[in-house]
Amino acid sequence: MDIKSAEFIVSNSEVSKCPNNNLPEYAFIGRSNVGKSSLINMLTGKKKLAKTSGKPGKTQLINHFLINKNWHLVDLPGYGYARVSKSTKKTFQKFITQYFEKRKQLVCGFVLVDIRHDPQPIDLEFMQWLGENLIPFSIVFTKADKLKPKAIENHIESYKTILLEFWEDMPNYFVTSSTKNMGKDELLGYIDNINQS
Ligand code: GTP
Ligand code: MG
Repeated sequence: MDIKSAEFIVSNSEVSKCPNNNLPEYAFIGRSNVGKSSLINMLTGKKKLAKTSGKPGKTQLINHFLINKNWHLVDLPGYGYARVSKSTKKTFQKFITQYFEKRKQLVCGFVLVDIRHDPQPIDLEFMQWLGENLIPFSIVFTKADKLKPKAIENHIESYKTILLEFWEDMPNYFVTSSTKNMGKDELLGYIDNINQS
């Protein structure tokens, strides 16, 4: 799929105020600093569309981007960032979970995990929670440019081992690097297929 247009629409802290139409949407979630906003920029080919930072906690709201005038990409704040105050953290958690529970337009959530790290309890718990709530999701491994192919394979294997203890099948997954444009065609092709069906 070619991205012909990508524009920022709105930022919200309340799910009820998000765009009120029936366009299908795809949301990126994961720990702070995992590369959610960078992935949106890579996919759309617009370096400054979503705000990124080397410091965790950059994205603080629900951000809607309209793609090709007919579907949305959604950038969300990260979870599990210990340095925001407890009350701020609670607000993140609340509106993140509310977003997933209430947003009827959501077609698929992409849970981003840094390929360099072993499976972390917070990510596994979030995936578990999505599964229990019957919210469709795929896994996106990020920052693959930081590892050699063999190490990438090993990390995916360790995810498979752990996830297959809980699930019958490994969820769909993608290996990406925003600096190397890796995984772009696969992710956009996947979204395109769903949008066409
Ligand atoms: P929050 O908004 O704070 O939750 O973070 P985020 O998940 O949106 O991460 P963001 O896209 O802001 O990226 C965090 C840092 O990781 C930035 O310094 C990016 O340049 C870097 N980064 C993101 N993706 C990649 C990648 O694929 N490879 C490399 N090497 N660095 C990346
Ligand atoms: Mg961000």
